[in-house]
Amino acid sequence: MYNYGPPPNLTSLPVGSNYYKLENDPLYEAYRIREAERKKLSEKDYWSIHTSRLRPLNLIIDCDLFKHEIKSVDSLFEQFGNTHTNLNRKSMPLTELKTPIESIPLPVNWPMDVWAIEHPNQPLFDADFNIPNKEFYSMESMRPMDILKDHLSRCCILKWGTGARFYPHLDTLVPSHVIRLWGTNDPDNNHFCFWNESTGQYEREENVEPGRLYLADTSQFHHAYSTAEDVYTFFFALQVSSYETIKQLL
Ligand SMILES: [Fe+2]
Repeated sequence: MYNYGPPPNLTSLPVGSNYYKLENDPLYEAYRIREAERKKLSEKDYWSIHTSRLRPLNLIIDCDLFKHEIKSVDSLFEQFGNTHTNLNRKSMPLTELKTPIESIPLPVNWPMDVWAIEHPNQPLFDADFNIPNKEFYSMESMRPMDILKDHLSRCCILKWGTGARFYPHLDTLVPSHVIRLWGTNDPDNNHFCFWNESTGQYEREENVEPGRLYLADTSQFHHAYSTAEDVYTFFFALQVSSYETIKQLL
């Protein structure tokens, strides 16, 4: 449905891109100071578990139960971020900040680079959202995540309509400050595509099981899109302290 050209070369970030500004613009010194203090997973440890783009984990969300429960919290979904608002991309958090920040949408429901660009004195990172919230505990379908409860980072449920998408991007560089999980209730309509350097194109992940959570190598360029209404994504980031638990779940 969507085709994109080759991703930019990482050794020269496009001037004017959010990450170029965050790395270089004097305005974002506070971001860079906090960025330098973040805990990271070493290259060796990162590549020891990310041996392919998506790796199935021994964690399954019961999709029937999930779909039943998610209806009762539908009013908690917000537009994802304040850009591309023509796209039907909604988000509901399962984790929150220790000290809440008032904002519509809530900071947890923003792309973190966009938040950082718009809030130079208040940079936030995935790992700041490490407190499981009421919905995390009240949804019985989330109980498989209990094993990772002490290692959660920014975790949201995304709800997309037809044509909603994330444009090609990276979530992390290696050494990585994050371990990312991904899953969906509707693999037929939730298309997750990674750049393949050897074929020179984005390739869709196939044979995705509904409800299964996968370890995702988001240090590779990827994009995603929806071809139906009410397509949910389990958009879960973990702290790097989850490494040993993740190894046991692979
Ligand atoms: Fe991503």
